[in-house]
Amino acid sequence: MQQITTSHLMKMKQKAEKIVMITAYDYPTACLVDEAGVDVVLVGDSLGMVVLGYDTTLPVTLAEMIYHTKAVARGVKRALLAVDMPFMTYQTGPTDALHNAGRLMQAGAMSVKLEGGIEICPQVQALVTAGIPVIGHLGLTPQSIHVFGGYKLQGRDEVAARKMLADAKALEAAGAFAVVLECVPEDLAAKITASLAIPTIGIGAGSHCDGQVLVLHDLLGIAGKVKPRFVKQYARLGPAIRDAVEDYAREVRDGKFPAPEHSFLSEDTVAHSYPIPEKT
Ligand code: KIV
Repeated sequence: MQQITTSHLMKMKQKAEKIVMITAYDYPTACLVDEAGVDVVLVGDSLGMVVLGYDTTLPVTLAEMIYHTKAVARGVKRALLAVDMPFMTYQTGPTDALHNAGRLMQAGAMSVKLEGGIEICPQVQALVTAGIPVIGHLGLTPQSIHVFGGYKLQGRDEVAARKMLADAKALEAAGAFAVVLECVPEDLAAKITASLAIPTIGIGAGSHCDGQVLVLHDLLGIAGKVKPRFVKQYARLGPAIRDAVEDYAREVRDGKFPAPEHSFLSEDTVAHSYPIPEKT
């Protein structure tokens, strides 16, 4: 099993092989997405919305990202592990960015993702110089939601499109190894992709990006009521989970669970089948 690296992703772009990226926020889903063979696992600050129930990603703290990164890092064996730097942990300058990215790397991150263009290039440069691989993020950058005034398509007019292309080139020049493009018209994403040597990873940015990323909970159908147009649901686990818990509740109330096979007699010795860690 070969560990995916940043240079591996660069070669995938050169060979026109699509890069697959997905979010994970805990150990069991990290194991599952890694076993499924994705190339990049992202501990996204989207966890604030899909796991912690916030309305935006803004309340997510560095401590929460570290906590989730540690769990995901224990489950990921092959994919490159990327972690979002949360709101206000890097916008304040290169020194803060270095300090906070360092803590994420010590928690198990193999790279960090920052939202923004030319204005955050000094931070990107400082991180890369310190040996921390960086992914950029342009377009609809959720940490700036209150500037955008909603989850809207970005880069629609000529000026905004030219600025996004310039931002992407600046991130590449600063040393980023990939750029996420979120909610961007397909033709602009294609132009940016063709203009960069580093891979673009799209989410709501059409099919011409070098790779795609989705939020795991969106893809599995457990993210709540809102389904962005760019999401394809590959499963409907929300109703399946609710049904399973309803079955459990009914069986407990009816006295059907636990059955004899879930109960013990005094001569039984093994209580469960999980491996018990040796005493150290
Ligand atoms: O936070 C996140 O999950 C992300 C992806 C949607 C790219 O930034």
